[in-house]
Amino acid sequence: MQRNWWKESFVYQIYPRSFMDSNGDGIGDIPGITQKLDYLKDLGVETLWLSPIFKSPNDDNGYDVSDYCDIMDEFGNMDDFDEMLAEMKKRGMRLVLDLVANHSSDEHHWFQEAKKSKDNPYRDYYIWREANPDGSLPNNWQSIFEGPAWEYNEATDDYYLHLFTRKQPDLNWENPKLRKEIYDIMHFWFKKGIDGFRMDVIPFISKREGLPDVPYNDNEPAMISQTNWYANGPRLHEFLHEMHEEVLKHYDCMSVGEGIGVGPDDGVLYVDPERKELNMVYYFDHIYSNRDFKEGGLKDIDWIGFKKIIRDWDEAIPEEKGWNTFYLGNHDQVRSVSCFGNDKEYRVESAKMLATMLLTLRVTPYVYQGEELGMTNTPFSSVEELNDVWILNEYEVFKENGGSEEDFLKHVNTASREHARTPFLWNDKEHAGFTTGKPWLKVNPNYTEINAVKAQQDPGSVFNFYKELIKLRKDHKGLIYGLYNDLTPDSQELFVFSRKGIDGNYLILLNLTDKEKEYVLPSELGLGKLLIGNYEGNNFNGRLKPYQAMVFEIVA
Ligand code: GLC
Ligand code: CA
Repeated sequence: MQRNWWKESFVYQIYPRSFMDSNGDGIGDIPGITQKLDYLKDLGVETLWLSPIFKSPNDDNGYDVSDYCDIMDEFGNMDDFDEMLAEMKKRGMRLVLDLVANHSSDEHHWFQEAKKSKDNPYRDYYIWREANPDGSLPNNWQSIFEGPAWEYNEATDDYYLHLFTRKQPDLNWENPKLRKEIYDIMHFWFKKGIDGFRMDVIPFISKREGLPDVPYNDNEPAMISQTNWYANGPRLHEFLHEMHEEVLKHYDCMSVGEGIGVGPDDGVLYVDPERKELNMVYYFDHIYSNRDFKEGGLKDIDWIGFKKIIRDWDEAIPEEKGWNTFYLGNHDQVRSVSCFGNDKEYRVESAKMLATMLLTLRVTPYVYQGEELGMTNTPFSSVEELNDVWILNEYEVFKENGGSEEDFLKHVNTASREHARTPFLWNDKEHAGFTTGKPWLKVNPNYTEINAVKAQQDPGSVFNFYKELIKLRKDHKGLIYGLYNDLTPDSQELFVFSRKGIDGNYLILLNLTDKEKEYVLPSELGLGKLLIGNYEGNNFNGRLKPYQAMVFEIVA
């Protein structure tokens, strides 16, 4: 077993725009993060991942970078960054930045140059194609966020590729000069003292040769056909290995790829230590297990399928083949308690149950800001309250097809990524203490009930349960490295699994439903001490209360 800090730590993700505003302009910023480091320390955070903080015109809230070595105006400046990093180090924390290297902003000077002429030195930093002889677009690729993936450029009379918005042109990784630029950027940040990168849509960086048409089929949502076709191109692993050799191997760092379009069989290729590429990759399969791509919104969770996904990944990446991840929420998803739990009468119980799942699997867990408070989805009542470029583009299409605002909001309110981006709830004061100005995005009206100050003071809060779990995981290495065994693969209602490690064996019992459920322990299994639970009582009596979660030591 290879021990590493990035296996033993969990990762706490901050979406800086929504975390804490220090100067009253309504937008979260870097000094705001610095102000709140003691809060994070209290929770037990050791590793922080910040969504992009680089210069950006914010077409996609920072996932469109116009200068990779400078700070976004709204977030502060390099001095603010240096101070934040120094304050993190003082508290023994590590910092992971978000590398958005599949595409840049169209306002990046590389692209500003590239679009000028066909012989511009930056031309080959991007991907250009001419229209077909009949005038049609180079291929049938659709951008994930809006219409065709090709945008016309007048000066050169051809098209550039953008898998996301037209303001996010794809970078050409076939060009060694471009790759060198990216590696230099990574060195720049490592030399400042950061500890790693989360890599945005990294499976997309190598494009299929000849850019062949996406083979759409009726049995699959278009989004899935596209992402599978764009991901895992022929030179991907060559590029990642090169990045490892040129950059990553020179630092004691962590690297995690956003594994869009990646299944367990390809997943292992990213993380197998022998291959020398990345440390971890995080997948989407379980998050999609209750997505209704056809009708929009969410459908009932297929928990059997959900657990199979966890098992398949666990089996595909055994100890010697690398390391796994797990998450229930991030800045692209709905709030986990609203999606996988019950954000009404069992909000606290179900948020704690989900936390128990997240922090006891054989993975590095990723916790998204506000999850530790059990923050819920926000009721949006008009399209005017929305900000996300993806959602707003979808609304245009929805309207064109005759859909009403009311119907659109139904989808938004169950399954949009805007919910993750509403401001962090700090206290019960105006705008939940996030800003003294006008917040850039609606504040969840439930902030008087759910907020950090209240949660820190309440011993029964989701926050204090997280804190206890984080400590438990730190103190029991078997909960990190121990072998995973799913004891209820066929249950739609219960999730019971064991962890067997060198320092002890553990049993995790989770009731996934709002009803009391029976569970018969395997006869050979003897339970020891209850290490943590979300209800009163230290014994297991064969029944689990709604959303009950218990972690026991196994004695026999
Ligand atoms: C990733 C990010 C998402 C962003 C997209 C384009 O999926 O997580 O927020 O919009 O890439 O960069
Ligand atoms: Ca601000």
